[in-house]
Amino acid sequence: MIARETTLSDKKIMGFAKIMVCAMVMALGITLYSSSSYVEVLEVQSDFLVQGLRHCKRHKESFIREEHRKYNPRYGLFLEEDNKVTIIKNAIILDGDGKVNQTENDIFMVEGLIRDILASNSLESEKLTSDLHGMGVEIIDAKDHYVSPGLVEMHSHIGICSQPELKGVNDMFELMLPVTPFTRVIDAFNLGDPSIQMAAAGGVTSALVLPSANLISGEGFTFKFAIPKSRSVEEMLVEYSTDFLESERRRYMKMACGENPKRRFKAMMDAPKSRMGLGHLFRETMQKAQDLKDRQDTWCELALSSRSPSERYPVDDNLDLLVELLRGKVRSNVHCYETFDVETIFRHSREMGIEINALHHALDAFRIPEIIKKQPYEVAIATFASTWGFKKEAFQSSLFGPKIMEENNLTVVLTTDHPAIPQHSLINQAQIAHHYGLSSEKAFASVSGEPSRVLQLDDRIGFLRKGFDADIIIWNMHPLQMGAIPLKVFIDGHKVVDQPIRESVINDAPNSVGVLTENELDSRLLENSTSFLVTGIKQSFLADFPIDQENGPYEIYVSEGGIKCFKSDCSTDYPDSNIIKLENAYISPSLTVLTQGHGLVEMELEDSTGDGELVEALKEGTLLDFKDPQNIIKAKHGIRFGGIHLLKAFNLGVGKLITPPFRGEGNLFVTGVSAAFNAGGSTLEDIVQDEVALHITMGSNGKQKGVPTISSQIELIEALIRDNSLADNTYGKVARKELKLAIHTNSKDIILHLISLKQKLDIDIVIVGGIESHLLAPELAKNNIPVVVTIWQCQRRFWDERRCLSGLAGQSTVLKVLHDAGVLVGIGVEDDSKVRILLQDSGLAAALSGLSTESMLQMMTSNMDSIFELSNDLSFFVTTGDPLTYGSRVAAIVKNGTLSKVYPDIEPDLDSLTQ
Ligand SMILES: *[C@@H]1O[C@H](CO)[C@@H](O)[C@H](O)[C@H]1NC(C)=O
Ligand SMILES: *[C@@H]1O[C@H](CO)[C@@H](O)[C@H](O)[C@H]1NC(C)=O
Ligand SMILES: *[C@@H]1O[C@H](CO)[C@@H](O)[C@H](O)[C@H]1NC(C)=O
Ligand SMILES: *[C@@H]1O[C@H](CO)[C@@H](O)[C@H](O)[C@H]1NC(C)=O
Repeated sequence: MIARETTLSDKKIMGFAKIMVCAMVMALGITLYSSSSYVEVLEVQSDFLVQGLRHCKRHKESFIREEHRKYNPRYGLFLEEDNKVTIIKNAIILDGDGKVNQTENDIFMVEGLIRDILASNSLESEKLTSDLHGMGVEIIDAKDHYVSPGLVEMHSHIGICSQPELKGVNDMFELMLPVTPFTRVIDAFNLGDPSIQMAAAGGVTSALVLPSANLISGEGFTFKFAIPKSRSVEEMLVEYSTDFLESERRRYMKMACGENPKRRFKAMMDAPKSRMGLGHLFRETMQKAQDLKDRQDTWCELALSSRSPSERYPVDDNLDLLVELLRGKVRSNVHCYETFDVETIFRHSREMGIEINALHHALDAFRIPEIIKKQPYEVAIATFASTWGFKKEAFQSSLFGPKIMEENNLTVVLTTDHPAIPQHSLINQAQIAHHYGLSSEKAFASVSGEPSRVLQLDDRIGFLRKGFDADIIIWNMHPLQMGAIPLKVFIDGHKVVDQPIRESVINDAPNSVGVLTENELDSRLLENSTSFLVTGIKQSFLADFPIDQENGPYEIYVSEGGIKCFKSDCSTDYPDSNIIKLENAYISPSLTVLTQGHGLVEMELEDSTGDGELVEALKEGTLLDFKDPQNIIKAKHGIRFGGIHLLKAFNLGVGKLITPPFRGEGNLFVTGVSAAFNAGGSTLEDIVQDEVALHITMGSNGKQKGVPTISSQIELIEALIRDNSLADNTYGKVARKELKLAIHTNSKDIILHLISLKQKLDIDIVIVGGIESHLLAPELAKNNIPVVVTIWQCQRRFWDERRCLSGLAGQSTVLKVLHDAGVLVGIGVEDDSKVRILLQDSGLAAALSGLSTESMLQMMTSNMDSIFELSNDLSFFVTTGDPLTYGSRVAAIVKNGTLSKVYPDIEPDLDSLTQ
């Protein structure tokens, strides 16, 4: 056969094959010409050789870093009116390596690229400014403002899990098999996901979007967060090129170890159920890929030798990604938590000859730096700043993990795993990690330059450098400060956020919590004192003990369960006291927080660690009918003191917790009656109030047997309360205002009906959730309906949350609107792993809402106590620094008049509780 003789190069073959086919046809005349199948065979054979050799050639190619790029194909894809040239003058550059250049610079964006960065007021800058003058220039003066590259996310599900979450656009999981390397995120990416624009408002300009859950889940893609006017998804790719199919891109894949792949395929007979099974399936799959790779290599050898192959170049869509992984052309990203899972994946990497480029989530990685560093290639740790606790593999984390990894020279990348954490809040991950000791440089780099480098895109994004994409943020303050938000965001030179630049107080990164000194550790000996004195108090949020700032700082003396002295000098009156010497100290009443499962469950996904999960019971048919008041479940007998969740909460200043029975995720109407108890408690006396409120979920999550619609939910609850108004049961207590009715809902429309329900029945309704409640703020105030906000930060995760406020790009927040309208606002958490960062999270809420520390703390203390009518004892906590700023630390905790903790551990020792 003609083609077999060929040993020519790619280009020549093509020409040669065409000529030969034509020549054959001519030579054999009409008979052959009419025998079209023969011609096809010939064409196919010549084509397969051409195509195959093209593959062979690619085996050897590697990506070329482009220095000083001159052309950005995405420029001009947005709006016609985009300026060709934008110059940011007088910028303080905070680059993707986290370093600040104190010299002011001018940044020149030309047609979507950074043309140059030149010292402000220099001759060079003036010259370039005037050279570009004719092109339609916008000049922005960023004096005294930090200017950074756009943030880079390395683990997102944005676009494939669109918000609000609807079945129609949730494509995050492909659960046909535990191994689906053939799936591609780009096939599912929905650019209509509103989170994309919100992410850009938070300064996130590009992201790696990964598929989820499977042992080998598939191929991820990197996207930019500006929507092209064509609405083309391909135009959103970081490496967009006009020739989509032909152009080569960096490739990324996602794998997972441990609990997720074990759990997800429970129902599938043939799927592995243990780590051992997963290990086998992984090796077996990789061996298949290796076989294919060998066959491809043999084919190429043949094709390039004198003996041509008789078959097509072997390809298999099932294995393509894995073969490319074996060739070192795909960057691997592995979801992996436990230390032993990490070691297994490394063992597999050696056995298969593949690299593990990033371990994702990896909450235990800080415990095994040596194992990670021993690998012959760089392994990045793409982790969270504070997520923890809901399952075994996420239980052993430490807030100091990123800091410890930095100390061990590991590469730290911080991620949101959107929608697990809202995409737009990526910078908060860096802030929290910095608060807990990751250096400011590494913290900022971990959401900009480091992910870009690990993605091998550090010739385009993640840095402010010549020839990089013009993805730029102008910040209102140092981005690691509480309340930092982007004022202007550019993606490929296209302005996606445009807030006015106001005067700025130029500040540095905030402090981190320090390591305790010997003296501080020694003062722990004062724990359990019932008489003690604290000095250096600058601010007091105790309602009856204000500070006259002219005479500050104050001292406080506590004895016999009461405050005996509060003025600038108590030491003279009480000279022999146990003294805790502080500076810049703040006193706040202990916090009261509504949680999902604190005191009832340790690991949400491990039923044996908890009191019992109601949604699960409903599914199993073991939950009794709530219409019979006897069957309403109460939390009071299930409270467990001394668990690790309670200890962490107590150590950061939480006094009382309110927890309803643990419902779990899913549909359930009546949850039951909550109890309030002391976080630091140990005896039944610490149950402050055994019946606080009857909790009911209204809306989609409340749809269950008997109440399949919202209308029936409202109607039924009304009937139950009315019918039992005189009875000695839970519904009767609600009817007589002896018990609050806490209704969990975010929907404005449901809240509207609840206002009328309250007017009809004259009962005490508390809205819990309330994301859309800002739309009814005056009505809620007028009807004395308090709102316990559980997610102040807008995410539009579900339909009933779609009208939320983000606090970004000039928007207000739900807290601010409710507060200003005079609604009694409390704070709860929807995600229990957030309790341990409650102070930081509420600090952020206060900053973005323009609320004072005092107003914010009231929402977490006195407002909560009055919403739920809880009694108070002498419980407060003292921090060094404003408790709602980064860098502050809890120095003392007073529980019922006793000095319970001094410099409590932020991460109490876990070894006695888990391994
Ligand atoms: C800071 O900016 C000045 C002015 O452009 C430049 O000369 C200098 O090299 C920059 N410093 C660093 C560390 O990049
Ligand atoms: C980290 O790297 C620095 C600089 O290369 C080195 O001095 C230090 O010893 C390293 N630390 C560890 C724990 O490996
Ligand atoms: C304080 O009391 C607790 C609980 O009884 C005890 O574990 C701890 O050792 C005591 N601390 C001091 C300093 O006596
Ligand atoms: C709080 O202290 C008082 C005495 O000051 C005591 O009677 C009460 O039992 C204590 N409460 C708890 C929950 O320990």
